[in-house]
Amino acid sequence: MKWLFYAVFTLLFCVSADFARAMDNIPATATEDLMREHGVLGRILLIYEELSRRMDGGESSADELIKSTRIIRNFIQDYHEKLEEEYIFKRLRGENKLVRMANILELQHNTGRKIIDEILRMKDPRDYQDKEKLDECTRNMRSFIRLYRPHKAQEDTFLFPEFKKILSTREYDELGKKFEEEEARLFGEGGFEKIVSQTEEIEKSIGIFELSQFTPK
Ligand SMILES: [Fe+2]
Ligand SMILES: [Fe+2]
Repeated sequence: MKWLFYAVFTLLFCVSADFARAMDNIPATATEDLMREHGVLGRILLIYEELSRRMDGGESSADELIKSTRIIRNFIQDYHEKLEEEYIFKRLRGENKLVRMANILELQHNTGRKIIDEILRMKDPRDYQDKEKLDECTRNMRSFIRLYRPHKAQEDTFLFPEFKKILSTREYDELGKKFEEEEARLFGEGGFEKIVSQTEEIEKSIGIFELSQFTPK
């Protein structure tokens, strides 16, 4: 009879796991959440690369520039980085761990914010006819790319794994829930997916969405 119990138990477990998956009920864990947000940031950096290349050639891409910069401001700086500052850097300082790194990362957030303030000043279509303003804008975009590639890479591969080690399983699960709630509060249900689809739209409009184009021939 024991085998029957185990068979039923296994079947129920598999069915419930599949069901939860099908209902999209398995939430992202805290660091998975932050890392997929870095995925969006990485895509915006690719957009910035393409836009700055076009702007060097005198091509105006005002619409795409404003839309992608707003994603950085609203989703990355006002949400993702706030979570890092509030829940990760503060906790690390409290535990006296990676304090220097947390301080550098937070300073970089503040510097990134100033760069984005500058880029957001390019509101008037006439700004895109002004060579000096265009050059200043592409300089800012490139310094943002330069700043954020190492920033996010070190968070993903060092900071987040180290941070995870100091949390209990319960704390880690609770943090994941808190991040999901905060995302839903600020961006509505399916907030992350909405941001991804806005990013895709920008990629499509500047011709960098199709993945196969990046495979060397
Ligand atoms: Fe960060
Ligand atoms: Fe980050």
